[in-house]
Amino acid sequence: MTAARSKTGASGFDQLFPGKAEEGRVRTGIVELDEMLKGGFMPGDAVMLAGSAGTGKTTLALQYLVNGVKLGEPGIYVTFEELPDQIYRDAKNFGWDLRKMEEQDKFRVICTSPSLMLESGSDSLLDDVLRDIQPRRLVVDSLSHLEMFVKKDDMRMEAYRVIRYLKTRGVSSVLLWESPQISGGSFSVTDVGLSFLVDCIVALKPVEIESSMRKALVILKMRGSDHDKRFREFEITSTGIKIESAFTNYEGIISGSPRKVASEKFMEMFRGASKQKKA
Ligand SMILES: Nc1ncnc2c1ncn2[C@@H]1O[C@H](COP(=O)(O)OP(=O)(O)OP(=O)(O)O)[C@@H](O)[C@H]1O
Ligand SMILES: [Mg+2]
Repeated sequence: MTAARSKTGASGFDQLFPGKAEEGRVRTGIVELDEMLKGGFMPGDAVMLAGSAGTGKTTLALQYLVNGVKLGEPGIYVTFEELPDQIYRDAKNFGWDLRKMEEQDKFRVICTSPSLMLESGSDSLLDDVLRDIQPRRLVVDSLSHLEMFVKKDDMRMEAYRVIRYLKTRGVSSVLLWESPQISGGSFSVTDVGLSFLVDCIVALKPVEIESSMRKALVILKMRGSDHDKRFREFEITSTGIKIESAFTNYEGIISGSPRKVASEKFMEMFRGASKQKKA
């Protein structure tokens, strides 16, 4: 089966989400993120969205699907973790009416267990829905749950099976990955060797700055494309993910407790000194 690629008119795209895009990219619809991705994800790519608990993985993934629907690209949200009512409720709080999109056959929530998905042989559970909806986008929330059902040694193979299944159906997938150890420069993503299986990795990370918890987003890799290499600050607002400026004055963001860069410290001392002088 091949999934239909709904062609969205460039004008519709640009009206909804203005910004320069490279031809054929799968826009997230989050303007700043699309800019970081040089227009959006590459079509058909498997993207890993990694981050520790509560960093905004589900929110960003749902926003990617909802924006897809707005652009005429149907989407599927496969979840292993939450009860459907909770998903609809949480989405509604961001202003996203998933039930309405389902009624219009533009969206589907599939609640399943990884064991069911794997037992049914080559993930065939999804086939019917893929035929009905013909999605261009699909989210798996989360790939980490596979770990509970397969031996650690088999994890890479099972994840590969899921990714290959989605790729052969031509969907651009976002696979969520709970990564508690995105710190000290090492990602638990690499523990089971999954980072080599995906085409793109977007990481979300809590950062402690001056005793408050802020959040950083970084694109760790993107096969076949240039991308923004900086850590960008983001917030979860009542309308979804909002990306702000880069953490340019800090270094060591990856550690979770960054330091001000020397030049910034100097500027602060300088400002302090000139204030004292004036006083
Ligand atoms: N309606 C809302 N408005 C503003 N912020 C919200 C709203 N709903 C949730 N949040 C914020 O988003 C956070 C959770 O985001 P989300 O569920 O996307 O994270 P996650 O990475 O998927 O978490 P988990 O690891 O538990 O699955 C909450 O802790 C809260 O700070
Ligand atoms: Mg979640």
